[in-house]
Amino acid sequence: MSNVVPVDDAAILRAAALLRDGKLVAFPTETVYGLGADATNGTAVAAIYAAKGRPSFNPLIIHVADSRVLDDLVIWSDVAQLLASSLWPGPLTLILPRKKDSPISLLASAGLDTLAVRIPSHPVAQKLLRAVNLPIAAPSANASGRLSPTAPVHVVDSLGDKVDMILAGGRSQIGIESTVVSLIDTPRILRPGGVTQEQLERVLGYKISLFESSVDTLSAHPSPGMLESHYAPRLPVRLNAERAKDGEAYLAFGPRLTGTPTISCHLNLSPTGDLNEAAANLFAMLRELDNPSYIGIAVAPIPNVALGVAINDRLRRAAVR
Ligand code: TXA
Ligand code: MG
Repeated sequence: MSNVVPVDDAAILRAAALLRDGKLVAFPTETVYGLGADATNGTAVAAIYAAKGRPSFNPLIIHVADSRVLDDLVIWSDVAQLLASSLWPGPLTLILPRKKDSPISLLASAGLDTLAVRIPSHPVAQKLLRAVNLPIAAPSANASGRLSPTAPVHVVDSLGDKVDMILAGGRSQIGIESTVVSLIDTPRILRPGGVTQEQLERVLGYKISLFESSVDTLSAHPSPGMLESHYAPRLPVRLNAERAKDGEAYLAFGPRLTGTPTISCHLNLSPTGDLNEAAANLFAMLRELDNPSYIGIAVAPIPNVALGVAINDRLRRAAVR
């Protein structure tokens, strides 16, 4: 498709020009592909919501290349400074009070008086943000409620020609979205993601709570995007499955158990049981198994530690009907 452009310097300059012109550009980040628009341009931001079919009460993450730019957008604190200096650039999003005269479109933050900000580490994202020299609002580049894209072809499948340009920069290395941490009161994890709870606690020097995102507490969630069933393949997803039932696809994790030759293993998130590898494969493999020749997707149990916490969060949402 003609809107998919391999990354080189000319492509980045063209993408930056399109963004300045209020157009939509999908670009790689280390977590997942983002659907970017000029965050200061309300019409451009509205186009993101339209392309994704996203409810407009669900605010967007603002991406910048450098924390100095953030002085005009949000109100800093010592804790924010500490987390930023240790974990940025990287898969961390901070929720901070929005500055009164912040130039960010009110639609981007869905009318809240807080703002989600992130500095991605992916070299292409960094180059693009520097070239455009504007804060860029970017949700994951998928239709609302569906699996996040970790490769250019996923963006094409999900959004096609609703995007003016797709910067094709290979697969996202982390494969799961950024960790969203609210610093509005005591630091709290609103969405588990690419930075683990342990990493955050090591930097802060104290325990931090994970907002429990079990399905029955979703209605009280302080992060609007965590309300819905999300990350959903079309097929039903069955969790903690030791094996597939007749007609189901199986998404395994870890070495195949000896002595269970009947287990039908269609794909394996990580044969060696590596949670980082599993996170990187999660969305791509769910997409691959989301095929009408199966009646559902059964997923092996995933240890609920380190990146496993974010993987299990996404899987629980994928299983909500
Ligand atoms: O890794 C990522 O974070 C990717 C890449 C592209 O950067 N982006 C991403 O964006 O996952 P999105 O829109 O799919 O998810 C943003 C999440 C949503 O759950 C949203 O509700 C939450 O961040 N969020 C945004 N602004 C917020 C705010 N002011 N307060 C609380 N939650 C907020
Ligand atoms: Mg998303």
